[in-house]
Amino acid sequence: MQLTHRPVISSTGLFTPKEVITNEELVASFNAFVDRHNAKNAAAIAAGTAEALSHSSVEFIEKASGIKARHVMAKEPVLDPATMSPRWEERTNDELSMMAEIGLAAAKQALERAGRDAGDVDAVLCAASNMERPYPAMAIEIQQALGIDGFAFDMNVACSSATFGIQTAADYIRAGHAKSVLVVSPEITSGHLNWRDRDSHFIFGDVATAVLVEDAGIAPETHWEILGTKLKTVFSNNIRNNFGFLNRAAPENADGADKLFVQEGRKVFKEVVPMVAQMIVDEAERLAMDPASLRRLWLHQANAGMNRLIAQRVLGHEANDDESPTVLDTYGNTSSAGSIIAFHLNSDDLKAGDTGLICSFGAGYSAGTVFVRKVA
Ligand code: COA
Repeated sequence: MQLTHRPVISSTGLFTPKEVITNEELVASFNAFVDRHNAKNAAAIAAGTAEALSHSSVEFIEKASGIKARHVMAKEPVLDPATMSPRWEERTNDELSMMAEIGLAAAKQALERAGRDAGDVDAVLCAASNMERPYPAMAIEIQQALGIDGFAFDMNVACSSATFGIQTAADYIRAGHAKSVLVVSPEITSGHLNWRDRDSHFIFGDVATAVLVEDAGIAPETHWEILGTKLKTVFSNNIRNNFGFLNRAAPENADGADKLFVQEGRKVFKEVVPMVAQMIVDEAERLAMDPASLRRLWLHQANAGMNRLIAQRVLGHEANDDESPTVLDTYGNTSSAGSIIAFHLNSDDLKAGDTGLICSFGAGYSAGTVFVRKVA
């Protein structure tokens, strides 16, 4: 085995929860919640001291976001107008935690697809937009479940966690600190979405992905050369989640809306599109690549309109589904996992020599690009 210190993507893995919520089911339950709320508060609404809530609509959701359905880990409590939130049995310390369980499923698939024995992996990064607990790290639990002798840690860069994880893994390969690194992104976004908020209740879905980043010297014959990675962050409050261990104790905040996902969607749209498009074009130039020649873009899956605009600015024309595939319709926004799902489901047909881009963007703001070339 001759190490090259050149990082490649050897394979990817995907875990998709069985349960699905369609827009029709989501809107029916949301509207039932609204009707209950308005009936319960009828007197205050009539007196002008409380505001009536408005119905959501399937047409709005599809038009504004491109989302038609999402997978979730616990459908029934999310759709129950009395709960409107996922619920599950708390697991004991001896049981595998939920994020570790779905991350492990994705990781095992990535290992299997690469023909890689877990014993040959050096490191596990759990890169996701929320962690089930502060410590011990989810990544170390996954490492232990796979029987990996090495190191593991969690990292959170919201929707850009996976691309930041890929660059981190690639840097370990470049530096010779590791030859095989698993980047696992279990995203149980249903736990931090406010299902009672009309502006955002349709956005997220649950999933887990894994990316096996390795030294080219040990990679399977078919793999993806990493041509370049670039990361960027710019502070913004426009996507925010205030949940944290320092506010845990305030009882009035226990289930408060500000401890869940909130965003200024319009501002995000306006500010992030130009930032990301420019970043991609600049990085392509640095790599001496013509962005218009990229065979496929696997963009972060937040919103169909954002992806359309970014792809257009990068390719110089309106991208079709083949050039910029979307998984938004069936998965919704799955935070950091979105671009990896798009890559996992839409990359086998590319030919040796084809180039493409995995790109994420989201809270922080944060954005990450990973330019790849297929090697067969
Ligand atoms: N059903 C029906 N109508 C709704 C609705 C719903 N669920 N939610 C909002 N509306 C209404 C609003 O009340 C508003 O009505 P008005 O014009 O009478 O005031 C109208 O639809 C437009 O609302 P707005 O919030 O401005 O919608 P939008 O067109 O900006 O789309 C997003 C909302 C969130 C889909 C969009 O801003 C977006 O995708 N932003 C990108 C941010 C993102 O995806 N972030 C994810 C994290 S990376």
